[in-house]
Amino acid sequence: MTDTKDIVTATDLYRTVFQVAPDAILVIDERGRIHEVNNEAERLFGYKKDELEGESVEILVPHSVRERHRGQRQDYAVDPRPRPMGIGRELFALRKDGAQIHVEISLSPLRTPDGLHTVAIARDLTERRRLKDFGTGALTAMEDERRRIARELHDETAQSIAAVVIRLKLLMKKGIGGGEAGELAELRNVLHDTVEGIRRIARGLRPPELEDVGLEAAIRSHIREFHPEGRVEMDFTASEPSLEEGGDLVAYRIVQEALANAVRHSGADRIGLSMGGDESGRFLSIVIEDDGCGFRLDVESDPGAGLGLMGMRERAQLAGGTLEIDSQPGRGTRVRALLPLAKEPSS
Ligand SMILES: Nc1ncnc2c1ncn2[C@@H]1O[C@H](COP(=O)(O)OP(=O)(O)O)[C@@H](O)[C@H]1O
Ligand SMILES: [Mg+2]
Repeated sequence: MTDTKDIVTATDLYRTVFQVAPDAILVIDERGRIHEVNNEAERLFGYKKDELEGESVEILVPHSVRERHRGQRQDYAVDPRPRPMGIGRELFALRKDGAQIHVEISLSPLRTPDGLHTVAIARDLTERRRLKDFGTGALTAMEDERRRIARELHDETAQSIAAVVIRLKLLMKKGIGGGEAGELAELRNVLHDTVEGIRRIARGLRPPELEDVGLEAAIRSHIREFHPEGRVEMDFTASEPSLEEGGDLVAYRIVQEALANAVRHSGADRIGLSMGGDESGRFLSIVIEDDGCGFRLDVESDPGAGLGLMGMRERAQLAGGTLEIDSQPGRGTRVRALLPLAKEPSS
């Protein structure tokens, strides 16, 4: 005999799923009253269930946008279908303690015998944002460190070698006997090249003044200095694309790394670089392509190698974009980054 108490009915099951779901779920009735909420909604908004149930959903909406929300809710009732809320805008919810939390909300209509309800699912983006801030912080620290190393290389190492070069010149002027003169001259040349090399590394470490010269000019000058052999062909179709804040440096670093890889590893005769708006009009697309040896993406590279590729991807993702690498042995390599363009100021 089955004890009826042991039978978990479908309704109980769904009720449990509703309660333990990792996102906050609110069922809202036709008039905008909160009908029911789950555990995560209590946690996220800081209210007890019975404080929310029966209240207008607007108590969770920051005061500044309440009026607009009320209007949008009425529009939704006219044409209810599943959709994310606030497309293209950052959404904030108001907690009981007055704090505003960054959320993502999706809406779907639910027809019930009591009329049309709306199910709102809210996801807390604070943690995601915290992780993003952490990643951005790490990248900023890396840029600071690069700047510091660049300064030391330039100010100290290069300067002291340059001083040796000068003293060698003086020695040579004084005239040292026979065979040694030639050796000294050679030594001086070696040192001279070393100083040039160090200065070039230092310039590569330090990002250019992107705000002043703009992304395109900075990339052109990078290519002139670091890839002067004429292997790189450029094709810019975006006239001064305006990326989101910090995006220029991300774009510059990605181009720098992808070109360095193509030159160092691919053996290609020609490298193509193109930049322009993508099909959606929301991203700047940067493509770096070579027809060189290519490589296998699936093999695990030895630790240490591969930081360049990983770094490019991380930078793109932290900037809210993506990076794809396409490569096959013998078929060349294509790196494509999509970086979000600055939003037009909303009217
Ligand atoms: N354009 C390319 N052509 C051929 N091989 C490449 C290319 N880009 C990257 N690779 C391969 O992927 C590896 C990892 O690249 P990367 O992460 O930039 O590290 P690193 O350049 O320091 O070796 C390289 O060592 C190389 O074997
Ligand atoms: Mg590399």
